[in-house]
This record gives sequence, structure tokens and C-alpha cells, in this order.
Amino acid sequence: PYPYYAELREKAPLFWMQRLQVHVLSRYEDVAYVLKNPALFSSVDIRVSGMRRQDRAELKELSSVSNLVNSDPPVHTRLRGLVSRAFLPKRISEMEPRVRELSRGLVAEMTAQDEFDFMDGLASPLPVTIIAEMLGIEVSRRRDFKRWSDTLMSSTAESMRTGKVSEEAIRSSREMLAYMTEIAQKRRLEPRGDLISLLVQGGEGAEALTPEEVNSFAIVLLIAGNETTTNLLGNALLALIRNPEQYEWLRRNPSREACAAVAEETLRYDSPVLGLMRRATKDVELAGGKLPAESTVMVLMASANHDPRKFPHPERFDLQRDTTGMLSFGHGIHFCLGAPLSRLEAPVALQELMERAPRLGFASRQPERVDYGGSFILRGPRSLWLR
Ligand code: HEM
Repeated sequence: PYPYYAELREKAPLFWMQRLQVHVLSRYEDVAYVLKNPALFSSVDIRVSGMRRQDRAELKELSSVSNLVNSDPPVHTRLRGLVSRAFLPKRISEMEPRVRELSRGLVAEMTAQDEFDFMDGLASPLPVTIIAEMLGIEVSRRRDFKRWSDTLMSSTAESMRTGKVSEEAIRSSREMLAYMTEIAQKRRLEPRGDLISLLVQGGEGAEALTPEEVNSFAIVLLIAGNETTTNLLGNALLALIRNPEQYEWLRRNPSREACAAVAEETLRYDSPVLGLMRRATKDVELAGGKLPAESTVMVLMASANHDPRKFPHPERFDLQRDTTGMLSFGHGIHFCLGAPLSRLEAPVALQELMERAPRLGFASRQPERVDYGGSFILRGPRSLWLR
């Protein structure tokens, strides 16, 4: 799906992108190298279009606190140690019955219509509801929560593109900060079984997070954990419908393992996150060129996953393929904390869909051409009308 990336890999594996002032790496080996070397390629103080995110006054409240994504060791090591308890595979697998129940309900409601928007009916509400439940957001605030997360996500993409942050996004982030601070305070006094309680309490040998850290982490979860899984589901449906022989194979064998294979091959074939940014900490020679100290590097995992040096016939969507080494969840110390959750949600949702609606096709109102929303970081359909 990415002819432009193929050209980059062959003709300019180290490419200077003038508009954003970033060096772009597109080959598997180089992308993996950058992600594996956080001492050479830092996650702190990354500049895009020559500007540090933290320098923008309107974003100060959101990005001045260290969180997992914008930190290096030793800060990152400490934070990851504290929050990883909440994402242990065992804790996540215990959520399966709830994920299944929610998916089943959403699928039933959605497929009650002859034609429906898959993004609106299943791909968006599933991850956002599960995260809200994990965080312990009160039912009465769920709508606000959805609005905050939608605005935050679209404004992140927009601010990268235009360098501006909308009034609405600033208002949303303030509201959300106020609400999360309130919950954190409540849970400190009266803990419950939710994630916020776990983080503000500490215990089991772990210290507690500060209120600012809890807020910042909750926002990371929103941004990192929502649109990504939504995109994965949307991209999976697109790939299945466009590759009828693979869809047919799945229909004959709609097992949990087969649905997991759909998720993994979709992650490789059409990655929900196209690339990540890092800051070079010293001069580095890579991909036949030089990266100067302090420059910004963008590594394209979506391109790495299509590098024929790593994956033979990368343009084939093939459910039998060995996807080991695909980089869509990142690599190394920042490897996606939510991967086990996504690897639960996506296959379970697909299985419920296969059970109830195994023969989906494009609806009459959606032509083959799909609107991806124009972000250069996230990729997935804005809407996906099926019948
Ligand atoms: C990190 C992708 C789902 C939470 C990352 C990174 C990637 C990624 C590429 C690395 C960031 C970096 O190196 O700078 C994805 C994809 C997902 C997904 C493709 C779905 C298909 C989730 C979910 C959650 C989540 C469901 C949580 C509920 C996180 C967190 C980090 C992270 C907290 C930061 C980890 C760290 O820096 O140590 N994700 N993610 N992600 N993801 Fe995900």
C-alpha cells in the first residue's frame, strides 16, 4: 500500500524532509537500529519543524511532565516499572470476558442495520470504553471522556501538520486534567480496583506516582491506546475485503488463532502507527549518510515492515506469514505497553464479527477510495461503510 516508501527505501534510505526538518529512515535494519539504541536516539526534547513541543506555551500543561513516551532512562525505567504492573499479560487476559461481551453487543447493534459505519459501530467504541473502564472513569463522565480523547487525538495530528493547537483542544485538555486530578485525589483516599488506584497507591514494593505523573500517563494511554487499536481494526477489515481469498480462508477457519493472525498480519501490512521520532544525541553515520547531533530522526516502521530484505513479497497480505520482527509496536525499551491489550481486543472483536457477519463488503455509499484523514503518523480509515 505504500509506493512512496518503496521509492524511499531504494533511492533515499536517509531522506531529509525539508518541511518538518526531519531525517527519514525507511529500511528495516536502520529503523530497528534506531529503536534499539535509546542512548544514541533519545525520546526527550524532540523538535519537529525546528520547534520543541514543550516550548509551545499552549501545550506546556500537557507535555512538561515526564511520561513513558517522552522520557529516556533512568526516568523511563522508573515510570515503566511503576505502570507495567497494570499491563501484565495475566491481568490483561482476565479482561477477555468483558472484551467479548462488549464486542458482541456492539457487533449486534451495528449489524442490525443493512449498512453501517464499522469505525463508528465497533472500531472506535471498543478501545475507548475498555480504557475508560480500566482507568475507572465514572459512567456519568463517559461521554466527556470520549469527547476529550477524540479532540486530543485529532489535535495531536493537526498540531503536527499545522503547528497550531485549536482552542477546543486546549479547553478539552484542561477539563480532562481537572477531572483526572479529582479522580486521583478520590482514589488516594478511597482506593478501588482500577488502574488509577493502583498508580496513586504504590504498594507491592512500588512507590506511588505523583498526581502530575498520573495525569500525564492517563493522557498517554488515551492517545497511545485508542486510535491505534481503532485503526488496527479498520485496516484489518479493509485488508480482508480487498483480499477475498484470505477472507475466505478466515471464513473456513474463524478460530481465535486465525483472528490473531489477521491482527498480526494487518499490523505488518498496514501499520496503525506509520513512524516515530527521535533526537540524535551525537553525530551518527547511518544508511550511507550522516545524522548530525541534535537532529530529529523519523523512523518509518510501516516502511520497515514492507522491506523485502526482511519480509519476502511484502505487498502480499498473507495470513500464513511469519510476522516475527514486525515493528508496528515499536522495539526495545519503549515497546508498546498496551500490546497485550490490543492483541486481546482485536482478535476477540474480529471473532465476534465473523460469528455474526462473516461476509462483509463495501456498502454502496462507500466507494473503494478510503479517507485516511491525512495524518502522517497514524493511519486508518476515518469511516468505513460496510454492508
Ligand atoms: C508505546 C503502537 C496500542 C499504550 C507504543 C509505541 C508504539 C505503539 C509504536 C512505541 C512508542 C515509542 O517508541 O516512542 C501501538 C499500536 C497499538 C497500540 C500499533 C494498537 C494496535 C496500545 C494500547 C495501549 C498502548 C491499547 C494502552 C492501553 C502504550 C504506551 C506506550 C506505547 C503506554 C509507551 C511505552 C513506553 O514508552 O515505554 N505503542 N500501540 N498502546 N503504547 Fe502502544
